[in-house]
Amino acid sequence: MPSDDIQEQLNKYLTDAHSIEVQALPQMKAAPKLAGDQGLARMYEEHERETEEHKRLVEERLEARGASPAKLKDIAGAVTAVPFVLFAKSQPDTPGKLASHALSYEHMEHAAYELLLRVAERAGDSETAEVARRIRDQELAMAERIEASFDRTVEASLRDQSPDDMNEQVVKYLSDAHAIEGQSIQLLERGPQIVKEGELAKLFREHLDESRAQQQAVEARLEALGGSPNRFKDAAMRLGALNWGAFFQAQPDTPGKLAAFAHAFEFLEIAGYEQLRRVAERAGDGETAAIVGRILEQERTAASRIESEFDRAAAAALASQGVLR
Ligand SMILES: [Fe+2]
Ligand SMILES: [Fe+2]
Ligand SMILES: [Fe+2]
Repeated sequence: MPSDDIQEQLNKYLTDAHSIEVQALPQMKAAPKLAGDQGLARMYEEHERETEEHKRLVEERLEARGASPAKLKDIAGAVTAVPFVLFAKSQPDTPGKLASHALSYEHMEHAAYELLLRVAERAGDSETAEVARRIRDQELAMAERIEASFDRTVEASLRDQSPDDMNEQVVKYLSDAHAIEGQSIQLLERGPQIVKEGELAKLFREHLDESRAQQQAVEARLEALGGSPNRFKDAAMRLGALNWGAFFQAQPDTPGKLAAFAHAFEFLEIAGYEQLRRVAERAGDGETAAIVGRILEQERTAASRIESEFDRAAAAALASQGVLR
């Protein structure tokens, strides 16, 4: 009986991966028009082709495992309730927002394939494991390309701003960071309700304290630069579609998914701060740039700590389904 259960779980992970790829496709198709320059557009175009390939590879594995297309369609429909769709709803309207959401999405995919890989290995399906490894590496490579393009992304985002507006830009990016930290705090407050103990719960609690301090540091810079509380509210509204807190209310799920979302969320923050740092440097605002540099170190540490928990998170997710003791 346990062996049947793990095969069924593996089909679910494959179906989730399929759903992620299906939802990535329209984003990758829309991205080149929003990318900001031709080089950036090409980066997304190439990944659209890779995304098509990922979808096909995952479909092949599902078919080989006897999941019928009709069944696949039903389950894919059901999974649209998960927050991968938030990426679509967030309507990236600048090259910078597009890059932030794309980086976060690639890391969502990265995490999903790490989990799929572990479940495939436990299920003894080496072909699925091989496919998971191959796709994971391409998602990570895309994430690296996005990170390597932040200079150009910021350049493209600021192109139409006059130099006089640079301080205004710093305030705008700080307001967005303030709103994102608000979401981070919500996410981290709910995390321990899903993973009650262990390393993941511990790091959520620790990073919650850090996130509160980060939000305060951002707020202090906003006040020093004359940003009004009203502006904080506006930025929070703009981020409304990214309401991770609401997601967790609607979808209390496995430790594996929680780890994947938390990991992706760190990269949403990382992308925002990488851009904010560059904008602050251009504005000659060394103090903001220095504070952001320190926050970035904390975000990257949190992301790699979450990543090192994927093994345990996958095991805990299977255990919560009764597959593992
Ligand atoms: Fe991808
Ligand atoms: Fe943060
Ligand atoms: Fe964070």
